[in-house]
Amino acid sequence: MAPRTRNRLTFLRNGRRVEEAAVDPNETLLDYLRLRERANGTKEGCNEGDCGACTVALGAVRDGRLAYEPVNACIRLLGTVDGCDVITVDDLAEDGRLHPVQQAMVDFHGSQCGFCTPGIVMTLFALYHAGIRPDRQTVNDWLAGNLCRCTGYRPIAEAALAAVTGKPKDALSQRRARTVLAVAEMRDGADLFIGSARRFFAAPATTAALAALYARHPDAVLVGGATDVGLWITKQLRDLPKIIHTGRAAGFADVVETSAAVRIGGGATYAQAWDALAGIDPDVAEVLRRLGSRQVRASGTVGGNIANGSPIGDTPPMLIALGAELELLKGTARRTLALENFFLAYGRQDRGQGELVSAVTVPRLAPGQHFRAYKISKRFDQDISALLGAFRLTVERGRIREARIAFGGMAATPKRAPATETALAGLALSDPSTWAPAMEALERDYRPISDMRASAGYRMTVARNLLTKALHEIATGSDGDSRLVGRRGAWETAR
Ligand SMILES: Cc1cc2nc3c(=O)[nH]c(=O)nc-3n(C[C@H](O)[C@H](O)[C@H](O)COP(=O)(O)OP(=O)(O)OC[C@H]3O[C@@H](n4cnc5c(N)ncnc54)[C@H](O)[C@@H]3O)c2cc1C
Ligand code: FES
Ligand code: FES
Repeated sequence: MAPRTRNRLTFLRNGRRVEEAAVDPNETLLDYLRLRERANGTKEGCNEGDCGACTVALGAVRDGRLAYEPVNACIRLLGTVDGCDVITVDDLAEDGRLHPVQQAMVDFHGSQCGFCTPGIVMTLFALYHAGIRPDRQTVNDWLAGNLCRCTGYRPIAEAALAAVTGKPKDALSQRRARTVLAVAEMRDGADLFIGSARRFFAAPATTAALAALYARHPDAVLVGGATDVGLWITKQLRDLPKIIHTGRAAGFADVVETSAAVRIGGGATYAQAWDALAGIDPDVAEVLRRLGSRQVRASGTVGGNIANGSPIGDTPPMLIALGAELELLKGTARRTLALENFFLAYGRQDRGQGELVSAVTVPRLAPGQHFRAYKISKRFDQDISALLGAFRLTVERGRIREARIAFGGMAATPKRAPATETALAGLALSDPSTWAPAMEALERDYRPISDMRASAGYRMTVARNLLTKALHEIATGSDGDSRLVGRRGAWETAR
């Protein structure tokens, strides 16, 4: 019988099984690789998930298939790689022969100072194993989390287009079947607990064990992908003595689709939730494509994006406008509430001690409902929103029967716009001359602040313009002809 609790971290390093009994809860994967293993090919740049120099590939079996995703080792906690195959740039060359993506980087002059190169190679390595022949846009989306200051991206993208054929032929593909077996063997169903009651890294194997452990240690920090928490450690230099990781709990990351709704488990990463959320509306896909980077989306969770309570998180305004319901779990007690009611004030959410965000259920659009969402940020890729507007209009015979609107970046929390929604009800979509009162109502709904991302005046002007844009697009049935990238820009490329 499998042991109920395991006190060692188990993972594969380039297909070879490793066990570690001494794991500090705050230790990052990058520190492990560079300081303990001395695998120094992987670089430390920003140490906050932005530059991609530390990118490594993590392999896991999903839906019966071994898949590799690039992740930022600098903010990924070591304990969270339990059960994964960890591959770094130091592992790629064989008998002095470069890997095909490395060789293409040489052939196309994709490297100058070389600092970004290991990270870029690892993102391209994961793309090499994605089983697709990418086009230029796909390559650009995959590389959005890898910053290169020297070459410009043209030679790097050309290297990718030449090397990635959709039919991988390298050492990893030859030992694929063995790796799948080795990954399966590591799934022992045991709760992972390393440390003492005062200082530990834990990753329970079931949702019940996760909820029970958190109820016993409500002072612990829950970690999904650590794309926020990792920075508390690397940038704020905080010591977090108790960490509970949600990512191993069976069922906790499940994504369930029905004809009426999509249910995203509290541990589901953006990558895992992508297809289901994108299926609700192309604008959800477009916002997700611009949320962080491939690396951030491979680790970060929708549950973490809600639980952190940020006023500028990208998913909450969209999910609120879509009418999402949040599920919370404490021990064995579950409760649900409308997502908008979860956000009480800046930094304060309706979540009790020891209570988990266990799922969010998002209704699909009903007939007559139209959705639009726009993310406004200084950079197109990998940037935090200055504001994000999300709009769901129910239209009957050319008139707005009901409007649900939510903005991020306009208040201390993600927030609905009740005055604007009321002003919109009954308006004829075909008559823009009647829209002005709704634009004015936005000033009753929001008092935005000025900060480094945008001034209050800019935010209010843009909010009005986004509402106009949504009304215009829905009225004319336009698929985004006024946009830099069309409404379906992300549809196929950024999975
Ligand atoms: C480079 C970079 C770019 C980013 N870009 C964006 C962006 O464009 N848009 C955006 O919205 N965000 C962005 N983020 C922020 C971050 O990726 C998201 O907020 C992410 O969704 C957090 O999820 P996580 O699983 O990584 O959370 P974690 O860091 O693991 O946790 C975040 C918080 O939520 C709590 N928590 C986690 N899971 C649960 C749960 N199930 N129940 C209760 N509490 C929980 C944690 O205790 C912590 O307080 C970016 C981050 C980085 C590093
Ligand atoms: S060091 Fe910059 S993303 Fe990790
Ligand atoms: S080659 Fe110098 S940063 Fe990319």
